[in-house]
Amino acid sequence: MGISWEKYIAVTRQRPARKPLVDALQYVDKKEHALNIGAGAHMDSRYLLESGFDKVTSIDPDPASQLCAEEIHDPRFEFYLTKAEDYNFKPNTYDLISAQMVFPYIERSSFPRVLCEIKASLTERGILTVWIFGDRNGKMLAKTKNDVLYFSREETEALFSGMEVLDFIEEEKDQSSPVHGKMTHYHEFFVIARKK
Ligand SMILES: C[S@@+](CC[C@H](N)C(=O)[O-])C[C@H]1O[C@@H](n2cnc3c(N)ncnc32)[C@H](O)[C@@H]1O
Repeated sequence: MGISWEKYIAVTRQRPARKPLVDALQYVDKKEHALNIGAGAHMDSRYLLESGFDKVTSIDPDPASQLCAEEIHDPRFEFYLTKAEDYNFKPNTYDLISAQMVFPYIERSSFPRVLCEIKASLTERGILTVWIFGDRNGKMLAKTKNDVLYFSREETEALFSGMEVLDFIEEEKDQSSPVHGKMTHYHEFFVIARKK
C-alpha cells in the first residue's frame, strides 16, 4: 500500500496504552501469551509486558516499528517485521490478541482469511480486542483511501460471529488529528470479544 508509518509512530511514542486493550485485560483468564498486531510505537507491547504476560509477540511491517521494538530489552518480548497477511498464526496460541487500528490496513482480498486465522489462534476463552474505522469515518489518508477498510455496524458485528461479544462501543465525533492536526470526522468501533 505504500503508507509510511514513520511519522505516526514518532508522534505516538509517548501515548498511554490504548483503552480497548486496557479494558480487555479484565476479561483475560490467563496471561501466558499475548499478540499485538500492528504494534506501531509499541506502547501497547510495553503495557502487555508490564501487565505480566509470560510472553508478548508483536508484529508490524514498518521499519520504524522495528526500531521501537529494538528498544525493548525483555526476554519475554519478540517482534516480527511482517504484515498480518504474511504472519504464521499458530492455532490455539494466544490468550489475548490486540489489533488497535490495524484491521483497516490489511489487504482487502486477504482480510477474511486473516480474520479466520486470528480467531483460530486464540486459546479457548481467549480475548480479541479491536479498534477499527466505521464507514462514516473521514478519509484520513486520501492517497490510499480505496485501500483502507471501513466497516459498517453490521459488518463490524459480523467480524465477531461465533464469539461472545463482551464490549461493543460505536463512537462518532469531530476532532483534530494527532498526526496532521486537521479537523477529522471520526467514526470508530471498539470491540472486545471472547472465543467460545
Ligand atoms: C494506525 S497505526 C496503529 C499503531 C498502534 N496499533 C497504535 O494503536 O498506535 C497502524 C499500524 O499498523 C501497521 N500496519 C499497516 N499495515 C499492516 C498490516 N497489513 N499488517 C500488520 N500491521 C500493519 C503500521 O505499520 C502501523 O504501525
